Amino acid sequence: MFDLRELDRSIVGAPMAGGPSTPELAAAVSNAGGLGFLAAGYRTPEDLEEQLRSVSTLTGGPVGVNLFVPDSFQPEAVLLDAYREFLRPEAAALEVELGEPRNDDDGWDAKLTLVLDFRPAVVSFTFGCPDPAVLRRMAGAGILPMVTVTTLDEAERAVAAGARALAVQGPDAGGHRGTFDQGQVPSANPLGELVAAIRSRTEVPLAAGGGVSGPVDVVRLREAGADAVQVGTALLLSDEAGTNPLHRAALSEGRFDGTSLTRGYTGRYARGLTNRFIREHQDAPAGYPQLHHVTAPLRRAAVDQRNADVAHLWAGTGFASARPGPAVEIIQSLA
Ligand SMILES: Cc1cc2nc3c(=O)[nH]c(=O)nc-3n(C[C@H](O)[C@H](O)[C@H](O)COP(=O)(O)O)c2cc1C
Repeated sequence: MFDLRELDRSIVGAPMAGGPSTPELAAAVSNAGGLGFLAAGYRTPEDLEEQLRSVSTLTGGPVGVNLFVPDSFQPEAVLLDAYREFLRPEAAALEVELGEPRNDDDGWDAKLTLVLDFRPAVVSFTFGCPDPAVLRRMAGAGILPMVTVTTLDEAERAVAAGARALAVQGPDAGGHRGTFDQGQVPSANPLGELVAAIRSRTEVPLAAGGGVSGPVDVVRLREAGADAVQVGTALLLSDEAGTNPLHRAALSEGRFDGTSLTRGYTGRYARGLTNRFIREHQDAPAGYPQLHHVTAPLRRAAVDQRNADVAHLWAGTGFASARPGPAVEIIQSLA
């Protein structure tokens, strides 16, 4: 079974659903001596299958696949409806209809079957910890089962359930927080402290990520006990990333001076560049994936219409250090 401690370069290219993660990016990170990831979230199983085939033609190195864990959280319908009403003028301004607040499991069973067929080196899970039986099936197929955790308590639960590695995510991370309970405000405990606390309680390999913007962060996290460091935002401008043009421009043109946590886009907390939408939708209720489906047409229209005031522009706090260029150079500069 793959071991994070055996990477030539101890860098993990974070899974980034919604476009940025491509087979080309995953392969480039792995070919550079790190661990590249495909992001299965939001994709159809057919798309994921195509990506798995594609990545295997581009690299012989280790590749991971990241899955969203469905949960049983019951959002309050009244709050969802009120928030949907509140969003109507935004949708009208972009001339789109909002989606319906439906639940789904992101193709969970089909995606599990696919990864068991293709046997990537690693399967990582976010938004919760799967049943021990799922983690056992992965390990039984020779796949390293990894779980994203944001607190010591989540780390202990994941290891008890059978996780053989942890993606330790800190408060500065771009994109969604992996917090198990979506009704909870995510922990603000600094990443270095979280890694040290988890390291003192478990032997499993740790990949630490969130706000990493240069080699100094990498050294600091390795010293705190991380076996590898996971970077997402630092790769968003790379040549191989599928980051859309609006997102690329917003990250690089200096128009935004900071990031914020919001659940205004999807009902789950995520960090993005602080635009007007984030500022004006601070009171959004919890409710993933229901709110994700409500805002999907709005977000798509905002991207198509190049509207950075409304689009979701996921970014970690270190976004100002992100540079364009081949992923191999970005990985080399970090490691
Ligand atoms: C655009 C974007 C999309 C992301 N999508 C996912 C995802 O699909 N699954 C996941 O586990 N984490 C996702 N994340 C979080 C990353 O795995 C990682 O925790 C984060 O990028 C680390 O912080 P950094 O962006 O400051 O490097 C995403 C992050 C970004 C920036």
